[in-house]
Amino acid sequence: MIFLNPLYFSFFITTVILQKTFLFLSLAIIYDDYLLIRMPKSFTLSAFKNIKQTGSLFRSSKFLAKKLTESLSSDQPLTVVELGAGDGVITKEILDKISPKSRLYTYEINNNFIPHLSAFKDDRLTIFNQSVEKLRSDFGYNDVDIIISSLPLANINKTFKEQLIRNVKFVLKDKGQFIQYQYSKNDKKILETNFKELSTQFCFFNMPPAIIYNCVNFV
Ligand SMILES: C[S@@+](CC[C@H](N)C(=O)[O-])C[C@H]1O[C@@H](n2cnc3c(N)ncnc32)[C@H](O)[C@@H]1O
Repeated sequence: MIFLNPLYFSFFITTVILQKTFLFLSLAIIYDDYLLIRMPKSFTLSAFKNIKQTGSLFRSSKFLAKKLTESLSSDQPLTVVELGAGDGVITKEILDKISPKSRLYTYEINNNFIPHLSAFKDDRLTIFNQSVEKLRSDFGYNDVDIIISSLPLANINKTFKEQLIRNVKFVLKDKGQFIQYQYSKNDKKILETNFKELSTQFCFFNMPPAIIYNCVNFV
């Protein structure tokens, strides 16, 4: 019997331990810092009550938040808009990245998340506790440098989605960016149709893994 040989036996045990350690570390990385305490208190409970509107039971990982904010410049004064802030994992990453003279306007419809966003106490941040439908009336034509969206596009009806994209294009500057993530490729087509330039990135370390669309607006 192979297991009676001590050498094989210790090799087998070592392999099992390494596998379990790898699995544990991967899960710890994916769930990030919110696995034990923050998630049940904030995001998941609120998401659970309104899953269609929230689109996911898990807030984005820091890996995804970092990828979404990669193209933000720390040197220039930017006008940045965030759509669907949740409890602020991406909001924080944006605030960490943008310059002191930049401004971040963030939309969040779910009242439960507002105290988390208000806790940032950052003068550069304006919180709109309202639906993104008001985007066009809150900003002028050609006003915004970058829009980062977490809106659950897959759960939003076609008419709303098309109106949203029209509004996004209206407020974005020439060569302004619309950055959106999704857990499937469902809405790639509608984005391709509306933006002349679109690139995609994949973020495995998120729950679930996400596709990031980076769309460039040409006026
Ligand atoms: C998938 S969650 C993302 C939350 C957070 N940004 C993250 O990445 O963990 C989508 C968020 O969009 C918000 N949302 C959905 N529809 C909205 C709308 N019409 N206007 C504003 N926020 C909306 C939801 O309440 C939810 O917080």
